[in-house]
Amino acid sequence: MLAKGFTGGRVLDLGCGTAVLAMAAAKVLGGPVLASDIDPVAVDVARANVTANNLDGQVDCIVAAGFGAGGDRLAGPFDLVFANILKGPLISLAPDIGANMAPDGYLILSGILNEQADEVAGVYRENGFSLAKSSAIGDWTTLILRKSPA
Ligand SMILES: C[S@@+](CC[C@H](N)C(=O)[O-])C[C@H]1O[C@@H](n2cnc3c(N)ncnc32)[C@H](O)[C@@H]1O
Repeated sequence: MLAKGFTGGRVLDLGCGTAVLAMAAAKVLGGPVLASDIDPVAVDVARANVTANNLDGQVDCIVAAGFGAGGDRLAGPFDLVFANILKGPLISLAPDIGANMAPDGYLILSGILNEQADEVAGVYRENGFSLAKSSAIGDWTTLILRKSPA
């Protein structure tokens, strides 16, 4: 992705938990990252971690279930979305993620067991994505998908 010239733009860590991925992305890309989670306790922890890592103003953490109740900040288009959740929520979120991605935008999905990867990729294909890369480490697969051009 970075090797292909990706420089950031609007970036979302969906299901941020502690915000570890959002903070890593902010460090690597150097731009703003929005981090959201359904769990208010996770978002409190995420905010504390962002402050401890001197990333206030660069990583913004909000409570939201999927794309709901996030207001304008969760309205697409996003150029990069990553979601380390689990198969069930990832499949449920596919239409909303698809609707909020920029054309040619990158989507990175993890939290998927190897045997679940084909099903998840299939659902995302139905929602306008093509599979750019699938990578397994141990029992877990990460999918890198690309939204169709406009
Ligand atoms: C496996 S944890 C991963 C946390 C973090 N992204 C990481 O990589 O360490 C999944 C997170 O997704 C959140 N989550 C689950 N369903 C969600 C949804 N529909 N919308 C937003 N967050 C969700 C959970 O609250 C949890 O914090």
